[in-house]
Amino acid sequence: MTVMLSDGRPMPRLGLGTYPMRDAEARQAVSHAISLGYRLIDTAAAYGNEADVGAAVADAPVGREELFVTTKLRGSHHGYDAAMRGFEESRARLGLDYVDLLLIHWPLPGRDLYVDTWRAFAHLRDQGLVRSIGVSNFTPAQIGRLADETGVLPVVNQVEMHPGFPQHELRAFHAEHGIVTESWSPLGASSKLLDEPAVTDLAFARGRTPAQVVLRWHVQGGAVPIPKSGDPERMRQNFEVFDFSLSPEETARLDTLNGGRLGGDPDHHVEL
Ligand code: A2P
Repeated sequence: MTVMLSDGRPMPRLGLGTYPMRDAEARQAVSHAISLGYRLIDTAAAYGNEADVGAAVADAPVGREELFVTTKLRGSHHGYDAAMRGFEESRARLGLDYVDLLLIHWPLPGRDLYVDTWRAFAHLRDQGLVRSIGVSNFTPAQIGRLADETGVLPVVNQVEMHPGFPQHELRAFHAEHGIVTESWSPLGASSKLLDEPAVTDLAFARGRTPAQVVLRWHVQGGAVPIPKSGDPERMRQNFEVFDFSLSPEETARLDTLNGGRLGGDPDHHVEL
Protein backbone atom coordinates (compact mmCIF):
# COMPACT_ATOMS: atom_id res chain seq x y z
CA MET A 1 0.00 0.00 0.00
CA THR A 2 2.49 2.55 -1.19
CA VAL A 3 2.70 5.15 -3.92
CA MET A 4 6.01 5.59 -5.72
CA LEU A 5 7.51 9.04 -5.45
CA SER A 6 9.35 10.55 -8.41
CA ASP A 7 12.66 10.04 -6.57
CA GLY A 8 12.04 6.28 -6.59
CA ARG A 9 11.07 5.95 -2.94
CA PRO A 10 7.80 4.41 -1.78
CA MET A 11 5.42 6.41 0.41
CA PRO A 12 2.49 4.89 2.34
CA ARG A 13 -0.88 5.73 0.83
CA LEU A 14 -2.44 7.01 4.06
CA GLY A 15 -1.01 8.38 7.27
CA LEU A 16 -1.76 9.81 10.67
CA GLY A 17 -1.99 13.58 11.03
CA THR A 18 -0.86 14.68 14.48
CA TYR A 19 -1.91 18.35 14.73
CA PRO A 20 -2.86 19.62 17.34
CA MET A 21 -2.02 16.66 19.61
CA ARG A 22 0.87 17.02 22.01
CA ASP A 23 2.54 15.26 24.93
CA ALA A 24 1.00 11.96 26.07
CA GLU A 25 -1.94 12.32 23.71
CA ALA A 26 0.39 12.54 20.72
CA ARG A 27 2.61 9.69 21.92
CA GLN A 28 -0.35 7.41 22.55
CA ALA A 29 -2.00 8.24 19.26
CA VAL A 30 1.16 7.55 17.25
CA SER A 31 1.86 4.31 19.13
CA HIS A 32 -1.69 3.13 18.66
CA ALA A 33 -1.70 4.08 14.97
CA ILE A 34 1.47 2.08 14.39
CA SER A 35 -0.07 -0.92 16.14
CA LEU A 36 -3.05 -0.62 13.78
CA GLY A 37 -0.79 -0.69 10.74
CA TYR A 38 -0.24 2.98 9.99
CA ARG A 39 3.28 3.52 8.69
CA LEU A 40 3.20 7.21 7.72
CA ILE A 41 3.26 9.72 10.58
CA ASP A 42 2.98 13.44 9.81
CA THR A 43 4.34 16.08 12.16
CA ALA A 44 5.88 19.56 11.90
CA ALA A 45 8.23 21.77 13.88
CA ALA A 46 5.32 24.16 14.39
CA TYR A 47 3.14 21.48 16.01
CA GLY A 48 5.35 21.23 19.09
CA ASN A 49 5.03 17.44 19.15
CA GLU A 50 8.14 16.19 17.33
CA ALA A 51 9.64 14.83 20.54
CA ASP A 52 6.43 12.91 21.24
CA VAL A 53 6.32 11.49 17.72
CA GLY A 54 9.98 10.53 18.03
CA ALA A 55 9.36 8.79 21.36
CA ALA A 56 6.53 6.73 19.88
CA VAL A 57 8.67 5.83 16.86
CA ALA A 58 11.53 4.78 19.15
CA ASP A 59 9.15 2.49 21.07
CA ALA A 60 7.49 1.08 17.98
CA PRO A 61 7.36 -2.69 17.58
CA VAL A 62 8.40 -2.28 13.94
CA GLY A 63 11.80 -1.28 12.57
CA ARG A 64 12.62 2.31 11.67
CA GLU A 65 12.86 1.38 7.98
CA GLU A 66 9.21 0.34 7.97
CA LEU A 67 8.07 3.75 9.14
CA PHE A 68 7.76 6.92 7.09
CA VAL A 69 8.16 10.06 9.20
CA THR A 70 7.36 13.45 7.70
CA THR A 71 8.20 16.74 9.33
CA LYS A 72 8.01 20.35 8.14
CA LEU A 73 10.23 23.36 8.45
CA ARG A 74 8.58 26.32 10.11
CA GLY A 75 8.52 29.80 8.62
CA SER A 76 11.03 31.25 11.05
CA HIS A 77 13.65 28.92 9.54
CA HIS A 78 13.36 30.00 5.92
CA GLY A 79 16.68 30.76 4.21
CA TYR A 80 19.61 28.41 3.54
CA ASP A 81 21.45 28.53 6.88
CA ALA A 82 18.32 28.81 8.98
CA ALA A 83 16.80 25.83 7.17
CA MET A 84 19.89 23.69 7.84
CA ARG A 85 19.69 24.67 11.52
CA GLY A 86 15.94 24.28 11.74
CA PHE A 87 16.09 20.80 10.26
CA GLU A 88 18.85 19.76 12.65
CA GLU A 89 16.72 20.92 15.56
CA SER A 90 13.76 18.92 14.26
CA ARG A 91 15.91 15.86 13.81
CA ALA A 92 17.25 16.19 17.35
CA ARG A 93 13.74 16.55 18.78
CA LEU A 94 12.60 13.53 16.78
CA GLY A 95 15.70 11.61 17.85
CA LEU A 96 16.05 10.15 14.36
CA ASP A 97 19.06 9.49 12.15
CA TYR A 98 17.06 10.52 9.12
CA VAL A 99 13.64 11.84 8.21
CA ASP A 100 11.71 10.23 5.36
CA LEU A 101 10.13 13.40 4.04
CA LEU A 102 10.88 17.04 4.82
CA LEU A 103 8.45 19.72 3.65
CA ILE A 104 8.59 23.50 3.52
CA HIS A 105 5.50 24.14 5.64
CA TRP A 106 4.39 27.36 3.92
CA PRO A 107 5.92 29.24 0.97
CA LEU A 108 5.75 32.65 2.71
CA PRO A 109 6.10 34.52 -0.60
CA GLY A 110 6.36 37.86 1.21
CA ARG A 111 9.72 36.81 2.63
CA ASP A 112 10.85 35.34 -0.67
CA LEU A 113 13.27 32.90 0.89
CA TYR A 114 11.72 29.65 -0.20
CA VAL A 115 14.14 29.08 -3.09
CA ASP A 116 17.16 29.33 -0.76
CA THR A 117 15.33 27.13 1.71
CA TRP A 118 14.84 24.62 -1.08
CA ARG A 119 18.59 24.63 -1.85
CA ALA A 120 19.17 23.62 1.77
CA PHE A 121 16.61 20.82 1.37
CA ALA A 122 18.42 19.50 -1.71
CA HIS A 123 21.67 19.52 0.27
CA LEU A 124 20.07 17.66 3.19
CA ARG A 125 18.79 15.06 0.79
CA ASP A 126 22.23 14.67 -0.80
CA GLN A 127 23.68 14.18 2.70
CA GLY A 128 21.17 11.40 3.34
CA LEU A 129 19.66 13.10 6.39
CA VAL A 130 16.39 13.44 4.54
CA ARG A 131 15.24 10.79 2.09
CA SER A 132 12.71 12.84 0.13
CA ILE A 133 11.97 16.55 -0.08
CA GLY A 134 8.73 18.33 -0.79
CA VAL A 135 6.61 21.37 -0.09
CA SER A 136 3.29 22.25 1.48
CA ASN A 137 0.72 24.85 0.53
CA PHE A 138 2.63 25.79 -2.66
CA THR A 139 1.03 27.05 -5.87
CA PRO A 140 2.07 25.81 -9.32
CA ALA A 141 3.91 29.11 -9.92
CA GLN A 142 5.93 28.68 -6.73
CA ILE A 143 6.78 25.08 -7.60
CA GLY A 144 7.74 26.22 -11.10
CA ARG A 145 10.16 28.70 -9.60
CA LEU A 146 11.83 26.00 -7.49
CA ALA A 147 12.31 23.89 -10.60
CA ASP A 148 13.59 26.80 -12.71
CA GLU A 149 16.04 28.13 -10.15
CA THR A 150 17.34 24.90 -8.62
CA GLY A 151 16.50 22.17 -11.13
CA VAL A 152 14.90 20.14 -8.31
CA LEU A 153 11.19 19.41 -8.23
CA PRO A 154 9.41 18.54 -4.96
CA VAL A 155 8.14 14.96 -4.87
CA VAL A 156 5.11 15.93 -2.73
CA ASN A 157 2.93 19.01 -2.25
CA GLN A 158 0.82 18.72 0.90
CA VAL A 159 -2.26 20.91 0.62
CA GLU A 160 -5.73 21.28 2.03
CA MET A 161 -7.90 18.91 0.07
CA HIS A 162 -11.21 17.12 0.54
CA PRO A 163 -14.37 16.61 -1.53
CA GLY A 164 -15.52 20.13 -0.61
CA PHE A 165 -12.23 21.57 -1.85
CA PRO A 166 -10.98 19.07 -4.41
CA GLN A 167 -8.10 21.08 -5.92
CA HIS A 168 -8.71 19.80 -9.46
CA GLU A 169 -6.38 22.25 -11.20
CA LEU A 170 -3.57 21.83 -8.73
CA ARG A 171 -3.82 18.05 -8.99
CA ALA A 172 -3.64 18.24 -12.77
CA PHE A 173 -0.44 20.27 -12.41
CA HIS A 174 0.95 17.75 -9.95
CA ALA A 175 0.11 14.86 -12.28
CA GLU A 176 1.95 16.57 -15.13
CA HIS A 177 5.08 16.86 -12.98
CA GLY A 178 4.97 13.56 -11.13
CA ILE A 179 4.22 15.25 -7.80
CA VAL A 180 2.16 13.32 -5.25
CA THR A 181 -0.69 15.29 -3.67
CA GLU A 182 -0.86 14.82 0.07
CA SER A 183 -4.14 15.97 1.65
CA TRP A 184 -4.28 17.82 4.93
CA SER A 185 -7.67 18.13 6.58
CA PRO A 186 -8.80 15.25 4.38
CA LEU A 187 -12.05 14.99 6.33
CA GLY A 188 -12.79 18.68 5.98
CA ALA A 189 -11.71 19.47 9.56
CA SER A 190 -14.19 21.84 11.16
CA SER A 191 -16.57 21.75 8.21
CA LYS A 192 -19.72 19.67 8.09
CA LEU A 193 -18.40 17.52 5.26
CA LEU A 194 -19.03 14.27 7.11
CA ASP A 195 -22.67 15.31 7.59
CA GLU A 196 -23.29 16.16 3.93
CA PRO A 197 -26.10 13.98 2.52
CA ALA A 198 -23.98 13.07 -0.50
CA VAL A 199 -21.48 11.56 1.94
CA THR A 200 -23.82 10.06 4.52
CA ASP A 201 -26.15 8.50 1.91
CA LEU A 202 -23.22 6.88 0.18
CA ALA A 203 -21.77 5.68 3.47
CA PHE A 204 -25.11 4.17 4.45
CA ALA A 205 -25.51 2.45 1.08
CA ARG A 206 -22.01 0.97 1.27
CA GLY A 207 -22.11 0.02 4.94
CA ARG A 208 -19.14 2.29 5.63
CA THR A 209 -18.65 5.37 7.77
CA PRO A 210 -18.69 8.85 6.21
CA ALA A 211 -14.98 9.21 7.02
CA GLN A 212 -14.17 5.96 5.21
CA VAL A 213 -16.01 7.09 2.10
CA VAL A 214 -14.17 10.41 2.09
CA LEU A 215 -10.77 8.83 2.70
CA ARG A 216 -11.43 6.31 -0.06
CA TRP A 217 -12.15 9.26 -2.38
CA HIS A 218 -8.66 10.58 -1.62
CA VAL A 219 -6.86 7.27 -2.02
CA GLN A 220 -8.67 6.41 -5.23
CA GLY A 221 -7.80 9.80 -6.66
CA GLY A 222 -4.12 9.04 -6.07
CA ALA A 223 -3.74 11.39 -3.10
CA VAL A 224 -2.24 10.51 0.28
CA PRO A 225 -4.61 11.61 3.07
CA ILE A 226 -3.39 12.16 6.63
CA PRO A 227 -6.52 12.16 8.80
CA LYS A 228 -5.93 13.30 12.36
CA SER A 229 -7.55 11.42 15.17
CA GLY A 230 -6.70 10.71 18.75
CA ASP A 231 -9.57 8.27 19.07
CA PRO A 232 -8.64 4.57 18.71
CA GLU A 233 -11.90 3.60 17.02
CA ARG A 234 -11.71 6.44 14.50
CA MET A 235 -8.08 5.67 13.80
CA ARG A 236 -9.07 2.09 13.07
CA GLN A 237 -11.87 2.97 10.69
CA ASN A 238 -9.78 5.64 8.97
CA PHE A 239 -7.17 3.03 8.09
CA GLU A 240 -9.68 0.49 6.73
CA VAL A 241 -10.22 1.99 3.31
CA PHE A 242 -8.26 -0.42 1.16
CA ASP A 243 -10.87 -3.18 0.91
CA PHE A 244 -13.52 -1.39 -1.13
CA SER A 245 -13.72 1.01 -4.06
CA LEU A 246 -16.06 3.73 -5.17
CA SER A 247 -17.67 3.41 -8.57
CA PRO A 248 -17.25 6.25 -11.08
CA GLU A 249 -20.85 7.31 -10.30
CA GLU A 250 -20.13 7.39 -6.57
CA THR A 251 -16.98 9.41 -7.11
CA ALA A 252 -18.95 11.81 -9.32
CA ARG A 253 -21.51 12.29 -6.55
CA LEU A 254 -18.76 13.29 -4.14
CA ASP A 255 -17.34 15.62 -6.75
CA THR A 256 -20.65 17.48 -6.83
CA LEU A 257 -19.71 18.73 -3.37
CA ASN A 258 -17.22 20.93 -5.14
CA GLY A 259 -18.56 24.16 -3.77
CA GLY A 260 -15.40 25.77 -2.49
CA ARG A 261 -13.36 25.41 0.60
CA LEU A 262 -15.21 23.94 3.55
CA GLY A 263 -12.21 23.70 5.82
CA GLY A 264 -11.19 26.19 8.43
CA ASP A 265 -8.64 28.93 8.30
CA PRO A 266 -5.39 27.34 7.10
CA ASP A 267 -3.36 29.71 9.24
CA HIS A 268 -4.56 28.04 12.41
CA HIS A 269 -2.33 25.16 11.41
CA VAL A 270 0.95 26.93 11.81
CA GLU A 271 2.62 29.59 13.75
CA LEU A 272 4.51 31.39 11.04
P1 A2P B 1 -10.88 13.15 16.83
O1 A2P B 1 -9.41 13.42 16.96
O2 A2P B 1 -11.61 13.41 18.11
O3 A2P B 1 -11.15 11.78 16.26
P2 A2P B 1 -8.87 16.35 9.57
O4 A2P B 1 -7.80 15.31 9.66
O5 A2P B 1 -9.60 16.36 8.29
O6 A2P B 1 -8.37 17.72 9.96
O7 A2P B 1 -10.01 15.97 10.62
C1 A2P B 1 -9.70 15.87 11.94
C2 A2P B 1 -10.97 16.00 12.75
O8 A2P B 1 -11.88 14.98 12.37
C3 A2P B 1 -10.69 15.82 14.20
O9 A2P B 1 -11.55 16.70 14.89
C4 A2P B 1 -11.05 14.38 14.48
O10 A2P B 1 -11.51 14.24 15.80
C5 A2P B 1 -12.15 14.13 13.48
N1 A2P B 1 -12.17 12.75 12.99
C6 A2P B 1 -11.11 11.96 12.68
N2 A2P B 1 -11.50 10.77 12.24
C7 A2P B 1 -12.86 10.79 12.26
C8 A2P B 1 -13.85 9.83 11.93
N3 A2P B 1 -13.53 8.63 11.48
N4 A2P B 1 -15.14 10.20 12.07
C9 A2P B 1 -15.49 11.42 12.53
N5 A2P B 1 -14.58 12.36 12.85
C10 A2P B 1 -13.29 12.06 12.73
